[in-house]
Amino acid sequence: MTIRIGIIGCGAIAAIHIKAYRAIKGVEVVACADISLERARSFATKYELPRAYEDYVQMLASEKLDAVSVCTPNYAHCEPTVKALEAGFHVLTEKPIAMNAREAARMLDTARRTGRLLTVGHHMRFQPAARFLKRLIAAGDLGQIYFGRSHALRRRGVPGWGEFHIKSKSGGGPLIDIGVHTLDLIIWLMGSPVPTTVTGSVFTKFGNRPDFYSNWGDYKREEYDVEDFACGFVKFADGSALLLEASWAAHLPVHESYAQVILGDRGGAQFRPFCNEGAPLEILTARDEALVDIRPSALPEVDVYEEEMKHWIASIRGEAEVLVKPEESLNIQRLIDAIYLSSERGREVVVAEEFKENP
Ligand SMILES: NC(=O)c1ccc[n+]([C@@H]2O[C@H](COP(=O)([O-])OP(=O)(O)OC[C@H]3O[C@@H](n4cnc5c(N)ncnc54)[C@H](O)[C@@H]3O)[C@@H](O)[C@H]2O)c1
Repeated sequence: MTIRIGIIGCGAIAAIHIKAYRAIKGVEVVACADISLERARSFATKYELPRAYEDYVQMLASEKLDAVSVCTPNYAHCEPTVKALEAGFHVLTEKPIAMNAREAARMLDTARRTGRLLTVGHHMRFQPAARFLKRLIAAGDLGQIYFGRSHALRRRGVPGWGEFHIKSKSGGGPLIDIGVHTLDLIIWLMGSPVPTTVTGSVFTKFGNRPDFYSNWGDYKREEYDVEDFACGFVKFADGSALLLEASWAAHLPVHESYAQVILGDRGGAQFRPFCNEGAPLEILTARDEALVDIRPSALPEVDVYEEEMKHWIASIRGEAEVLVKPEESLNIQRLIDAIYLSSERGREVVVAEEFKENP
């Protein structure tokens, strides 16, 4: 059976989705929609799609689809997702799941009510090294996991396209943009523990300065109202803890770095998803008096977006379980909300107290 896809939002990530869908047999992208009809049309022309819409609601009503990719800015993830699920289609929405936990909970409730699948575009989980590490942890090679450290850092990297720098459109800065990727990854690797308390601080030191130079394109400095650096400390219900950092701009010793460190009582691991120097994955352990470091010397080279879409299509066909579960993304969205809240209030946030209506 051919799986028919519609795409909402025809920007940078939509181009990656379509390329990945096209690499899979039995998948057809049949329509796209964008609030800019011009953008929808030029996307449809470029990728030879039969139809382009200005209004995604019209696309959902007119097209016989199996699933929808929601590739809009963060402020427009919730509504199109809810409407697509209600129209009877499965949804892959881009990260972050939503602007905040309230929206994420609404999306999850709709998926449950309609019995449709909902997943979130966390492609980092599809890296062969991440999946290998996940299997090692599941097999008990690291023992009991008690600590994680996660960072997503850019020295000068405020996105210069879209509206990532405007809080009402994005929900926040690097924490919700790139921090969410590494948070998703590390919390998944740690076994999806539930956060209980969160302490965080966010800072805006560069992004709104007229003299600030960013390497990632240009944007209006006077519109910038999100953080450019975030850090946090999280305690989980299973007793484990996590330290995290995310940055678009800071005086760092690196231009760009993503890293996850996990400590267990039998072994530790460091995973650096995009590193070009040294080993991206190291397993650190001990045998008797000897310290033993394991560095996988070869893992399959794949296109992670293709892997993500292959798994998504297999889930739609009922041949696999969705890997990024919306419950996990809601959990992470709560954690992100709690970091912003903690920073605002200047004190620790108790997660269960803040999200009482959706425990
Ligand atoms: N997984 C990844 O690696 C990855 C990478 C980049 C972006 N993203 C995510 O993808 C999303 C889009 O980012 P992008 O870089 O493609 O942005 P973009 O600005 O390039 O594209 C967004 C498109 O959505 C359209 N749009 C805006 N509001 C809309 C609405 N209400 N209905 C229909 N169309 C609408 C815009 O006109 C634009 O064409 C963001 O949430 C971002 O966080 C994920």
